Amino acid sequence: MNDVNHPVPILEAQSIRKVFDRSDGQLVVLDGCDFSLEKGQAVAVVGQSGSGKSTLLNILGALDHSTSGKILHSGKLLDFGRRQVVDQWRTHQVGFVFQSHMLLPDFTSRENLLLPARRQGPVTSVIRERAQNFLETMGLQDRADHLPGELSGGEQQRIAVARAFMNKPSIVLADEPFGNLDQKIGGHLGEMLFGLRDKEGTSLVIVTHDRHLAQQADKTMKLENGKLVSVD
Ligand SMILES: Nc1ncnc2c1ncn2[C@@H]1O[C@H](COP(=O)(O)OP(=O)(O)O)[C@@H](O)[C@H]1O
Ligand SMILES: [Mg+2]
Repeated sequence: MNDVNHPVPILEAQSIRKVFDRSDGQLVVLDGCDFSLEKGQAVAVVGQSGSGKSTLLNILGALDHSTSGKILHSGKLLDFGRRQVVDQWRTHQVGFVFQSHMLLPDFTSRENLLLPARRQGPVTSVIRERAQNFLETMGLQDRADHLPGELSGGEQQRIAVARAFMNKPSIVLADEPFGNLDQKIGGHLGEMLFGLRDKEGTSLVIVTHDRHLAQQADKTMKLENGKLVSVD
C-alpha cells in the first residue's frame, strides 16, 4: 500500500532462499528471508560467523542472485534475467563498503573516489567538487594524492566509506566495514558513516559484530538458521 503511513520501502526482499551446491552436498544458507528497508532508515544485521550475512548483503545489492525469492526497489521488481539493467541499477543506486577497503592500489585517494562517477560518464567539475568535499569531511584533504598503500588502515577505510556515497546511491550496504580496525578507530569511522547517511539521506544496511555500531541503527535484525528475525 502506498500512502503516507505505509510508504513503499526503498528496498525489499521477499522469501529469499540461497542454496550453495558444494562437493559435500547442498548448503541452505538463506531459508526464506524477508527484509524491508525504508527510505533513510539504517538497519543493522547481526549473526554468527557463517550464518549468511555476507550472502544476504550480496543478494540485496545484486552482486549475487538468490536461488529463489524477490528483490524490489521502490516497489519495482529487479529482473535478474536482464543483467545490464541490474548492473545499471547497482551502479546508480547502491554503494558498498566491505571489510577490506577494495581501493585500487595504483590510483590516488582522489582518483579512487572518482571511480564510481567515471563508470557513469564524464567527470564534471561538480563531481570533482563532491570528491573534494568528501576528502575534507573525512579529514583527508592532505591525503588526496596519496596511494592506498601510503595510508593507514583507518584512512583507507575512510576513503572506502566516502567512495560508497559518491554516486548519491539511495542505499549503502556495509559488510563488517570496520572489522579490521581497532575499536576506537572503528567507532570514529562509525560516526562518520552514520553522519554521511544523515547528511545524504541514504538508507543503510550494516552487517556488524560491534554492538555500539549496531545500536546506532534504527533497528537490528539477526540472521539465524537461515531466517531474519527482529532483535529489538
Ligand atoms: N560461493 C559459495 N559457495 C559455497 N558455499 C558458500 C559460498 N559463499 C558462502 N558459502 C557458505 O555459506 C555460509 C554463509 O557464508 P557467509 O554469507 O559468508 O556468512 P557470514 O557473512 O555470516 O559469515 C558459510 O557456511 C559459507 O561457507
Ligand atoms: Mg561475512
